[in-house]
Formats: sequence, structure tokens, C-alpha cells
Amino acid sequence: MLDVPHTVHEKRRTAGDLAEFPDDQLIAQKIEVIQDILFEIPYVGFIIVIGIITDEDIGARNEIFQEAGSFHPAEQRIRAIGRREFVSHAFIFEKFFHEGKHIVLNRKRKSLRIKQLLKYETMKICSIGAGYVGGPTMVVIAEQCPEIEAEVTDVNAERIAAWNSEKLPVFEPGLDEIVKKVRGKNLTFSTDIDDAIRTSDVIFLAVNTPTKIYGDGAGKASDLTYIESAVRRITEVATNDKIIVEKSTIPVRTAEKIRRLLATNRHKCNFEILSNPEFMAEGTAVADLRNPDRILIGGDETESGQKAVQTLVDVYAHWVPREKILTQNVWSSELSKLASNAFLAQRISSINALSVLCEHSGADVDEIARSVGSDTRIGSKFLKSSVGFGGSCFKKDVLNLIYLCEYVGLTEVARYWQQVIDINEYQKHRFARLVREKLFGSLCGKKIAIFGFAFKKDTNDTRETPAITVCQDLLEEQAKLAIYDPKVPEEIVRRDLCPYPSDLITISQTPYEAAENAHAIVLLTEWDEFIALDYERIFKEMQQPAFVFDGRNILDLKQLRAIGFEAYGIGKPRVA
Ligand code: UDX
Ligand code: UDX
Repeated sequence: MLDVPHTVHEKRRTAGDLAEFPDDQLIAQKIEVIQDILFEIPYVGFIIVIGIITDEDIGARNEIFQEAGSFHPAEQRIRAIGRREFVSHAFIFEKFFHEGKHIVLNRKRKSLRIKQLLKYETMKICSIGAGYVGGPTMVVIAEQCPEIEAEVTDVNAERIAAWNSEKLPVFEPGLDEIVKKVRGKNLTFSTDIDDAIRTSDVIFLAVNTPTKIYGDGAGKASDLTYIESAVRRITEVATNDKIIVEKSTIPVRTAEKIRRLLATNRHKCNFEILSNPEFMAEGTAVADLRNPDRILIGGDETESGQKAVQTLVDVYAHWVPREKILTQNVWSSELSKLASNAFLAQRISSINALSVLCEHSGADVDEIARSVGSDTRIGSKFLKSSVGFGGSCFKKDVLNLIYLCEYVGLTEVARYWQQVIDINEYQKHRFARLVREKLFGSLCGKKIAIFGFAFKKDTNDTRETPAITVCQDLLEEQAKLAIYDPKVPEEIVRRDLCPYPSDLITISQTPYEAAENAHAIVLLTEWDEFIALDYERIFKEMQQPAFVFDGRNILDLKQLRAIGFEAYGIGKPRVA
């Protein structure tokens, strides 16, 4: 009779099959599950079997174990799993069978579904970094793969506490509902990064990689300090083989650096490094993650590299059609991410460059975008002219590309991409200049209502938001700003506009409050609620003449003008 140790690792939970079975069926089913595994796996290497043993089926357990006479002693590595009240133990056996040995139990085969569940039962994935990328990515993996255990970790205890609370640190449409569904089941949030590293098979690196602000490459290169510290942690604590996934956007050939660090692991574990860049956009993260255009996975061309690629392909294949999962070498994958973001940013800068010309020629930039975008070779997306692009990625990634080009001596190519950034800066400043010019050349002491502060709608993120630049320019002119954004908290707005005097900045609770007695409305984020406001009421409560500057082209300028506003958009014909 086997002496099976009890709980070794309480935190590790099982999911999938057990969660699927109603309680009354559980005992019968679980025995079949165990037997099914024994029946199905003629396996070498790492097998994890999860069986549920209660007092009632202790006899059945012994019977099964006797039949599977050739497995390694259970003491070798067993992790018991504490779970629901009727579950006394679950067991995980490593190297269950000897090579090629089949165990045939006198039982019918179980359904494919159970086999599929069991196939993934072995896996735990964690992310280091619980930000806009790490958080939602893991939430959707947990949702789509109920049998995979997912853990999101972060050094920031406050952020983790928020993920464990009712008010998530990231606002994304649809995210709250999924978190409620999976949190505490197959998804956990924790600051215990070491534990997550030790117990995971796959580790996603999702820490931030901001633009370097010091030393060589300052202002362009990525700061890899956080990636390095996460990798050093893995090197330090990992005791078995793992797949490390680059999720953060990183410079090309970062995998090489990661590999060198990991090679110093004293347990000589094998680490496979994959590049799996994230293409989701904020505000639509859940939809993008659930239904991506493509999944990109780059790995080494070695046998073990390809096996690791396959492991990750299998995870995504839970919900993404296989033809949308592209595999390539690590360097292509790393560069593809920068290239994609550079292309998207370039389209916005191109249409924004044309917006200035429109204002000088009587053309309407939205009409230009529609006709240009109807050409199927060009396509209609990312041609919306605006006050400028923001967000944590575009500027950073284009700068990164520029740095890379300069590094290898491609000055002309670097200069080409630099223009994408330069036009974006120009667009933000020229919008602020327009406000000053139209308000009779002086903003000093004038109240300006700022509608929207986030870098786009449906997010509370303000990184690189054009609102910062525009507000700074207005504050330079001593304007008094009344800022309203439905999702960005006051302290973030104040932090972003520091060190401008706080008495020049008021945070308003409604757009009406912001606009009261204001000389102008400056719309900087395309929140839907701004479209349907009562502009007649707003007009009456503003200083006259009342101005509207729509930095997102979402308002009906004609209608506003009919009310009495002096209204301006981006790339719109100017009315004298
Ligand atoms: C990510 C990527 O990292 C970035 O490269 C990509 O271009 C955009 O998306 P994001 O998730 O948006 O960044 O960043 P952020 O919201 O700042 O989250 C990163 C998290 O990592 C933070 O919560 C931070 O506390 C955490 N972190 C950072 C760690 O847990 N460990 C560290 O060593 C450093
Ligand atoms: C971007 C990429 O789209 C995504 O694939 C990548 O993973 C991360 O970077 P994100 O920055 O979250 O996503 O949002 P995105 O929708 O790309 O918008 C970026 C900025 O461009 C926003 O400020 C947005 O308002 C602006 N934009 C976008 C325009 O000005 N015009 C457009 O037509 C589209």
C-alpha cells in the first residue's frame, strides 16, 4: 500500500474537470478520470495526474495503483491539492510510467473532452507584471482555458490588492465580469513572485519597458531594467525547466540577453525563450484578446525551441483558430511588434499631416480619410485625424525602432521614422496654439474646460496622452483649466500636470461643471458621452463668445455653430 503524503503545496489548485462535475457525480467520475489517465498515457517524462481521493474510494485507489505497478514511488514528487470541502486530496505524480509502458485498465475510454482537459491539466502560467498587458492577458487566458491555472504577480502590493478588490486597477470594458468569473477559481493575483516562478511552467514577462531617460540611448532606447530584474529573479529561484515568454515590447535581440542571464541558474534548468508580443489596444483589450487578428509566437529553431512554441500554440488554440497563430523565429517576432506599432503610428501621422493641409485648402480630413480608406489596398482603420496619438506604445516603439536603426548606422531609415514622431508633436502643439490664437491671443486668467484626459476613450490610462502636452501649453499661457474625464482619477491628472501651479487646475465632476463660465471647451478624448451633451445649455452657461475646439472630430460642428459656438475641429474647413 502506498504511503501518500498529504498537502505539500496548498496553493496549487486544480481546475477544469473537477469544476465541471456536479458534486453528486463527482466520486464516480473522478475514479474514471484517474483510470482514464492511466489508460491513455503511454508516456515518457512529465505526467501529472490529478485524482481525487476520499475515504469512500480509498479501495478503488489502491486497486488502480496496484494495476499501475510500474510507476515511480509516489514519494518522489507529490503535490497535494486542497480544494473543495468534499475533496480530501489530489495528487500529482511525476514520471508516472517508465518509458513505453502501457497500463491497460479494463475500462471504457472516456470522452475526448476529458482527454483534452487532462492534456492541459498540467499547466500553470504566471505573469510578472499586473499592468494593462499582464492583467487582461492572464484574465482572458484563465477565462478561455479553465483547466490552466493562471497567476498574476506584481511587486506593487497596492496594484495586486486592487486586482483582488471590487475596483480593478485597469478599466477595460467587459473586464470586471470576467474577473468575477475566474478570480479565485483558476486565476489568482499575488505579490509572491518567487512562488509563482517556482510553480509555473510558463512565465510571461509583462513588466514595463519605458523609454530610457538616462545615459546612452536616453530618450529613445528601451529601459530594460525591469525585464532584467524579473529575469534575475527567475534565474535565482527556478528549480525546474520553464518557458519564458516575452510579452512586454522589447528591443530586437532581447531574448539573447535573457538567455545569458538565465544560463547562470544554479539548477541548470532548461529555459526556452519565446517572443509573444501583445497586439491588444487599450479600451478594446478584452475584445482584442478574445478575438485577435493574429497571435505571433517566435521561438528558437531547435527541437526544444519548437516544442516550447507548440506548447504556447496549444494554449492559444483553446480559442484562436490555428490559422491565425503565426509562428516565426524570435527575432522576426520581436521586430514585428515594433514594425506593427510603427506602421499604425505612421498612418495617424500621415493623416494628421494632411489635416493641416485641409485647414488651408477647404478640404475635410474625414472625407479624405473616407476616400483614401475605401481603397482596399489601404483600408479604413487608423486614419482618424486627431490632436495626436498617445498611449504607452506608439511613441516608445517608434523611438525604439529609430534607436535600432541609428545603432546599426541606418541614418536615413532612422530619419524616416523620426518624422512620425515629429508630426505627432507638431500636431499637439499646433492645436494648443490654435486655442490661444482664436481666444484673441491671450489665455491668461481665462477658464478653459478640458473634456477628456485619457489618451483615448474607454481607458483610464494617461500615458503619453496628448492631453498632457496640450494642457501644459495652455498652462504656460496662464490659462485656468477645469478638467473632466469620466475615468481618470484626480490624483493622476494632477501628477501628470505637475509642477504647474495647482490653483490653475480644477478637476470637475461633470462636463457641465467644467464648462460653466468657461471661455472655451477643448475636447481631447473621444468619450462617447461628449457627443450627446446638452450643448444649448452649455452655451448659455459659458462666457461669450463661446468656443469649442474638438481635437477628436466627434462633434457636429455645424450644429454647434447653429447654437452660437465658434467651433473648430482638426483638418476641417475653417468658417470665417
Ligand atoms: C506593458 C509592457 O510592459 C510594455 O512594454 C508594453 O509596451 C505595454 O505594455 P503595461 O502592462 O502597460 O506595459 O505596463 P504597466 O501598466 O506599467 O505594468 C507593468 C507592471 O509591472 C507594473 O504594475 C509594475 O509594478 C510591474 N513590475 C515592474 C513588476 O512586477 N516587477 C518589476 O520588476 C517591474
Ligand atoms: C496600440 C496598438 O494598437 C496595439 O496593437 C499595441 O499592442 C499597443 O499599442 P493602444 O496604444 O492601446 O494600442 O491604442 P490605439 O488604439 O492604437 O491608439 C493609440 C493612439 O492613437 C490613441 O491616442 C488614439 O486616440 C490614437 N488614434 C488611433 C488616432 O489618433 N487615430 C486613429 O485613427 C487611431
